[in-house]
Amino acid sequence: MSTQVVKRIVVLISGSGSNLQSIIDACESKLINAEIVGVISNKVSAYGLERAKSHHISIEAIDHTKFNSRDSFDAELMSVIDGWNADFVILAGFMRILTPKFTEHYIGRLVNIHPSLLPKYPGLNTHQRAIEAKDTHAGATIHFVTAELDGGPVILQAKVPIEKKETSDSLARKVLREEHVIYPQAIQWLCNGRLILTGNVAILDGKPLTERGANWV
Ligand code: GAR
Repeated sequence: MSTQVVKRIVVLISGSGSNLQSIIDACESKLINAEIVGVISNKVSAYGLERAKSHHISIEAIDHTKFNSRDSFDAELMSVIDGWNADFVILAGFMRILTPKFTEHYIGRLVNIHPSLLPKYPGLNTHQRAIEAKDTHAGATIHFVTAELDGGPVILQAKVPIEKKETSDSLARKVLREEHVIYPQAIQWLCNGRLILTGNVAILDGKPLTERGANWV
């Protein structure tokens, strides 16, 4: 029988938390060998906090507007996360830029999901930018977080076609459906030790991943 230790993960959100929900479901169904030991939101009214509460997960709302610097906000985040003894920190729609002090503290243990096919469209309004550029495809990317915004090594991507009459809302919904599939998969790899970061390279099952990540979907 497997004696793998159940990992402790903390999820950071800012909004609806539909990705959080997919991670909660994957932990409860044991697809991911982890316990979500806490959820933090920088927005007090984030619906994701309600999702966490209804699954009896500890929550903290840390309102970034109450802090006078990014450093002091990130220091509070770190203190809460480390108080929960987290093995991994999962950014799931967390809409704050993190300081290098934070990203270095959790290097290799910090992952993000971004709604574009990185390196295209880091930052905001990704779907609108893809439509305006007349791209044929859009998607989402999971990556290790480094000090470079949306620039860390790619783990996994999901691609969807952009239709003729696509709006940024319809595209967001389509991409989100894929996010809910790929994020639990990547977190499963992380928690069972198959996925690691070495230097600036993501390694899955001992093999370095390309700039498009794992060839999974
Ligand atoms: C998701 O589409 C995620 O990729 C995006 O925010 C949404 C959160 O949705 N993240 C970013 O834009 C990070 N830069 P959710 O709250 O329903 O999971």
